[in-house]
Amino acid sequence: MTRQPIQIWKNPHRSQHYDTELKQILNRERATAVMSELSSWPGYEPTPLRSLPGLSQALGVTQIGYKDEATRFGMGSFKALGGAYAVMRQVAQYLQVTTGDPDISLEDVRSGRYAKQISDLVVTTATDGNHGRSVAWGAQQAGCTCVIFIHEGVSEEREQAIAQFGARVERIPGNYDSSVRWADAQSAANNWVLIADTSYPGYTEIPCDVMQGYSVMAEEALQQWQALWSEAGPTHVFVQAGVGGLAAAICAHLWECLGDRRPIFIVVEPENSACLYETAQQDQLVDVSGSLDTLMGCLSAGRASLLAWDILRAGADFFVTIPDAAAAATMRVLAQGTGGDRPIIAGESGAAGMAALLTIAKQSGLRSQIQLEADSRVLLFGTEGAMDPKSYAQIVGKTPSQVAELCQ
Ligand SMILES: Cc1ncc(COP(=O)(O)O)c(C=O)c1O
Repeated sequence: MTRQPIQIWKNPHRSQHYDTELKQILNRERATAVMSELSSWPGYEPTPLRSLPGLSQALGVTQIGYKDEATRFGMGSFKALGGAYAVMRQVAQYLQVTTGDPDISLEDVRSGRYAKQISDLVVTTATDGNHGRSVAWGAQQAGCTCVIFIHEGVSEEREQAIAQFGARVERIPGNYDSSVRWADAQSAANNWVLIADTSYPGYTEIPCDVMQGYSVMAEEALQQWQALWSEAGPTHVFVQAGVGGLAAAICAHLWECLGDRRPIFIVVEPENSACLYETAQQDQLVDVSGSLDTLMGCLSAGRASLLAWDILRAGADFFVTIPDAAAAATMRVLAQGTGGDRPIIAGESGAAGMAALLTIAKQSGLRSQIQLEADSRVLLFGTEGAMDPKSYAQIVGKTPSQVAELCQ
């Protein structure tokens, strides 16, 4: 892998304690409740935390754990945890109000028992792909109608992956941020329920549920890490970001659970749509303009989520940007396996966190900047599998099934 350009910004606002204001956004008690809900869903299984000893040795660190989300609920990405959960919560609330029965549970909603009463209810969202798929899946289970807005840059494969859950998918001109504004306007005009994964002033409750859903993955990873290796947990965590909801959920959970032993937290973005990097540098939410075009399509976002920024401003150690070439090269490294490690199938956005690790680990100046040492233990999140198989084969030179055969 050739040396890739990378930008690193050290966060000057990192604070010590996970305080009560942050706990109002995300907290451990709610994480436990969401875990108990989601683990009761059919098909729930913790995704594997893969040990990569070959790569650890090659990079000169003690441990690398890769939380592989490719199998999550058969949906191909961690996003299955957030959007679908938020849909269930909204449908349950709607039914509680319209029927006057405060005891209607998420299980009641999932059972489809109330499908008749919610046939007029429409949920909607804007998406780069995976979030829309999750919302469509949730709506299908509940039995309500779903309209998903995608932008110009979303591939046909990703569009079909959403439509297969019975959603009406509408493509609109512009980038991800245009589709977010469009979905917001459409939901207001038609009285639809907007299930967005990003938050902004006046719209925070639902994205908060989405993020809290992601905390299930963080809790699984922590439990798996402690069972496999040590109570101490990882020393470094790399998480890729679009609007930052995922990174904030993981950062918050590990911080609250591990306290002073919390790992060094590194937020990774594509260089063309680095809204958190820009926001961190300017210490205020900013809009990154332009096409925001990136191979890491699910990370394409021009404005960070308000709530995610509140958490990451206090909790992240570094904000990092990587070029598309780094993600592509990392997909190939993962598909091959290093030093006897099992090959892994990762999509473009799923490989981004590891791409930053690979780049930093090979340059001593950058290593020391983030205190990456021989005794470091690194946790990565492989947030998606090959969601666009055509693009995967072009980048890796093998189809996902050819790589899967190597994993046997
Ligand atoms: C595969 C994948 N990884 C990471 C992310 C980033 O999540 P967020 O937008 O919450 O930062 C997304 C978002 O859609 C995604 O689909």
